[in-house]
Amino acid sequence: MDRQVKIFKNPAELASDFASYLADSVISSSKKKKPFVIAVSGGSTPELLFSLLGDQYADKIPWDYVHLFWGDERCVPPEDSESNYGMVRRKLLDSLRIPYSNVHRIKGENDPEKEADRYADEILSNTVHRDKLPVFDLVMLGVGDDGHTASIFPDNLGLLYSGRICEAVSNPYSGQKRITLTGRVINNAENIVFIVTGLKKAEIIRKILEKDPSAINLPAYNIAPVYGTLKWFVDEDAGSRLHTT
Ligand code: 6PG
Repeated sequence: MDRQVKIFKNPAELASDFASYLADSVISSSKKKKPFVIAVSGGSTPELLFSLLGDQYADKIPWDYVHLFWGDERCVPPEDSESNYGMVRRKLLDSLRIPYSNVHRIKGENDPEKEADRYADEILSNTVHRDKLPVFDLVMLGVGDDGHTASIFPDNLGLLYSGRICEAVSNPYSGQKRITLTGRVINNAENIVFIVTGLKKAEIIRKILEKDPSAINLPAYNIAPVYGTLKWFVDEDAGSRLHTT
């Protein structure tokens, strides 16, 4: 596994570098006439990135080559403030010309179990497959301060090894129903990028990146691409407890 950690002065510089990385990746794919299939993360961290992409990359990325999926979603309607899709639509999609059929939202308003199966079919229909699993060109992930990623929480490590593409789960703290990609699908991606900012993530970042024994059973610690690359985009606050070598 090819792992790279990049530390940025602040969230704005991190977002700028990631946007450039994304643009280069999509352009490279478009030159090969290949779609670029990405699963984006939810939560608050990527909001700045989506705003930057919407403000400055509407014409710098061939969005008609992008197929946009979500790594997880809260089981709420798209207009709900909790909706990961709703956030991306407000911050990014409303500023772009991207084919409607390229935006593959998880329908949080549907029955969770049925939606997990429906979404799995939509993923399989729009990706190439390897080892009978869909291959994302890029999976963007965040990390909770408890070590969860996507909606794979520490109380449900079985999701890392599930034979399903997506599963309906519950946030163990709030009980909120969610749909998440499973660990084997995430680890089948060509590129995985964690985006982590803020002081409250410093301890979990230290544990994961410095392979603290207490972290070995945390979901984010167990994200390891089988074939692809793993990148950590971390700002100085989130990286503030790392021992500089
Ligand atoms: C979600 C996410 C989740 C998120 C982390 C970090 O739907 O909440 O996908 O995995 O990435 O909880 O969230 P913040 O960026 O808000 O800290």
